[in-house]
Amino acid sequence: MAAVRVMRGHFDVERVRADFPVLARQVNGRPLAYLDNAASAQQPAAVIDAVAGYARAHHANVHRGVHTLSQEATALYEAAREKARRFINAASTTEIIFLRGTTEAVNLVAQAHGRPRLKPGDEILVSWLEHHSNIVPWQMLCGQTGAVLRVVPIDRRGVVDFDRYLAMLGPRTRIVALAHVSNALGTVLPIRAFLDAARERGIATLVDGAQAVPHLAVDVQALGCDFYAFSGHKMYGPTGIGVLYGRERTLEAMTPWQGGGDMILSVSFDGTTYNHLPHRFEAGTPNIAGAIGLGAAIDYLKAIGMERIGHHEQELLAYATARLADIPGLAFVGTAPEKSSLMSFTIEGVHPHDLGTVLDSEGVAVRTGHHCAMPVMEYFGVPATTRASFGLYNTRAEIDALREALLHAIRMLR
Ligand code: ALA
Repeated sequence: MAAVRVMRGHFDVERVRADFPVLARQVNGRPLAYLDNAASAQQPAAVIDAVAGYARAHHANVHRGVHTLSQEATALYEAAREKARRFINAASTTEIIFLRGTTEAVNLVAQAHGRPRLKPGDEILVSWLEHHSNIVPWQMLCGQTGAVLRVVPIDRRGVVDFDRYLAMLGPRTRIVALAHVSNALGTVLPIRAFLDAARERGIATLVDGAQAVPHLAVDVQALGCDFYAFSGHKMYGPTGIGVLYGRERTLEAMTPWQGGGDMILSVSFDGTTYNHLPHRFEAGTPNIAGAIGLGAAIDYLKAIGMERIGHHEQELLAYATARLADIPGLAFVGTAPEKSSLMSFTIEGVHPHDLGTVLDSEGVAVRTGHHCAMPVMEYFGVPATTRASFGLYNTRAEIDALREALLHAIRMLR
């Protein structure tokens, strides 16, 4: 297996790049400039090897067998849970639920926490910049319970209006669900202030941290949220694995969402006794390989250090903002003072999908479209944007390649 080397001293991006096999690829005859990290980040060899190593030597079902492989698989799976716990500073591994990703986490909270509690006229608060995965599960819950979804406005920079938020927190507000970082705009919410205000009023809180955990250190105890969700594949781990953190006393008060194997202590036709936390919320055979891969991704990020990663990415964001600012007809969508390392933009007279195709022909991978945040597009009056999102292995040279490819595309498409 590839050893994870602790990085000391200054951030060495070339050393980081050497850890990611796919970055050596050519795409359409050009060196790959992978700038779609907000959609899914690439995996270092340490993650790839951890997943393959498990399949080669340890694969078996977890929590079910006395035989050696099952014991080993269980130990690896539970070790990954402990890594996830430490990564976000949860108080206990009982608070770490493995599931498919952020989307499944929000659905779990909506159905297992919200559905039994909400009454007609109760309110759920989200912001205008949420990803569909932090909108649609709540809309479904409203349909099931008669609760009402209320939306906190944003301004033209993409900043969530905190004063309006405070004014909207009312006696019927039961749940506040907010992104930590916007996937479409890059806005970093001052999430602590939002959470404090909800907690003071006894309102349950969920944070969609999918776009935050790859870029900044998260401490759920310091945040004081009830739930915090994130996905493995945006933080250099595998797809199909993610984490729902739930505060223990909040999880204890919830009944399971899905029934099946592993979430029970005993079953008879007279009734079923549910398992302890966190297994009560992990029905069926879990994504064992994915959890082990996620654990390896956490080791990798920790060996470099979130502070170093954040610093490198903020430098890239500043460089990219300056390099793209003078491109004719380019308008940034999302100009909040606190931004994560992504930029959404439009170019006058050029459709983002055409732009994305031409950029790909130059080896530059970006995302184009509504970014699963159609209300954001509606607010800014655009059908789609082009989004370049930077990760820990991106370089200034790749941003220069993006600029050149954009100028080339404009010449072709206008
Ligand atoms: N949520 C992912 C994105 O923003 C897919 O691109």
